[in-house]
Amino acid sequence: MDSALKVSSMPNWGNPPLKTFNVQEIAREQPQTVPERYMRSEEERPGTLTKLPGQLSIPVIDMTNLSQGGFHRKEEICKIAKACEEWGFFQVVNHDIPHSLMDDIKRVGKEFFHLPLEEKQKCALRDFQGYGQIFVVSEDQKLDWGDLLGLIISPPRSRNLSLWPAVPADFRHIVDEYNKEIKSLAVQLLSLIAATLHLKTDYFEHSFGNTYRKMRMNYYPPCPKPDHVLGLSPHADGSGITLLLQDNEVEGLHIRKDDKWVAIQPIPYALVVNIGFFLEVMSNGRYRSIEHRAVTSKENARLSIAIFYSPEFDAEISPALELIDENHPCLFKKFIHEDFIRHYMSHKIEGKKALYEYAGITANGRK
Ligand code: OGA
Ligand code: NI
Repeated sequence: MDSALKVSSMPNWGNPPLKTFNVQEIAREQPQTVPERYMRSEEERPGTLTKLPGQLSIPVIDMTNLSQGGFHRKEEICKIAKACEEWGFFQVVNHDIPHSLMDDIKRVGKEFFHLPLEEKQKCALRDFQGYGQIFVVSEDQKLDWGDLLGLIISPPRSRNLSLWPAVPADFRHIVDEYNKEIKSLAVQLLSLIAATLHLKTDYFEHSFGNTYRKMRMNYYPPCPKPDHVLGLSPHADGSGITLLLQDNEVEGLHIRKDDKWVAIQPIPYALVVNIGFFLEVMSNGRYRSIEHRAVTSKENARLSIAIFYSPEFDAEISPALELIDENHPCLFKKFIHEDFIRHYMSHKIEGKKALYEYAGITANGRK
């Protein structure tokens, strides 16, 4: 085996640990080749993208309109409802998160991924937190062209600080600051989303309780064959909502819209927000978690930082009773967050299949 294919162990519940590889090392040591494990079949490759007609793209929500009140606020709330119903995704601009903090969190992320492998391995995945690759459940499964650092950032008792990078020295401080800002934005967004569903505005805040928040930093090194690989396989998020900070310039996120892949254009300092599977369940399917994936590029590395904002780990997740009636039968079984996560993490990602198998009643076959 080539020295570039350095291995690390990772958890895959109940099964012997599988070996995964460090993509950044492969890209550094063999910049012209892509090992077979990463080469996708024809159907899985990025392929051609759908161009949306005219200016159509995922909706952009302007938080200043929401703070103004009156007509502008009403109009913006309607936009959120439409975004959740038709896209499952939107971008948020003019939020209160300082741009300098967004720059800082990207900086500490990049600094971490640029460390020597030995240093990064000090944070190697344990109990589905840390540095490496997840969702690898078989020896012959195709792998994603990307490395990640995944950390539970809240509640504090669930943090495994031994897996938090010691370098850069301000990593923890910056993540703490970002976590606070994201929480306040997420609370605002969830109360607006609740309003669009005619639920009490604190419905989600109340049912999420002491929220569980996980941060996932994704690092996609440049790839000599971007047309043949995926940075991140198609999936829907196992979260309430996800707030993603993507690179200001390098495009890479695609969402599945009406069965076609569409690219999300980066807007500098915007956050990409998407409905996660828990919100799909809680809204009894009114809002859906949409499949998305990441692709790579030949020239540029890309960093993205996702915060998965979810109900607490022992919360029971079920459709809101207010959203069930004769015309809207209950679509999902109730389940405990932690049980779901163990199921989710021990399956290969195949779009939303595992999600519906786990919790769907009549939702099977939905996309
Ligand atoms: C994720 C995700 C997309 C991206 O981390 O769940 O969908 O652009 N990331 O990196
Ligand atoms: Ni995702």
